[in-house]
Amino acid sequence: MALLVKMGTGVLLFAALFVAMAMVFSSCTASRDYCQYVVPCNATTCFEYCQKNNYKNFQTYCTPGKYYPICCCRVP
Ligand SMILES: *[C@@H]1O[C@H](CO)[C@@H](O)[C@H](O)[C@H]1NC(C)=O
Repeated sequence: MALLVKMGTGVLLFAALFVAMAMVFSSCTASRDYCQYVVPCNATTCFEYCQKNNYKNFQTYCTPGKYYPICCCRVP
């Protein structure tokens, strides 16, 4: 009996973990990153690039690319 209860909790925990993972995963895919080479990439140039593309409520960040810096616009 005790073993059955334990197994039930284990399944419940597993299900809860699965749901939590699915939520984290979907929240990651909900926002999109639009990236483009922007030289030089800084807060000003990157912001202008995202604004030019009419992205709404975006967040900008620069990442080093292979040859040039990349500006990304994260759109929620
Ligand atoms: C970003 O780069 C541009 C072009 O070089 C420059 O005019 C501007 O002052 C820079 N802005 C910042 C915050 O570094």
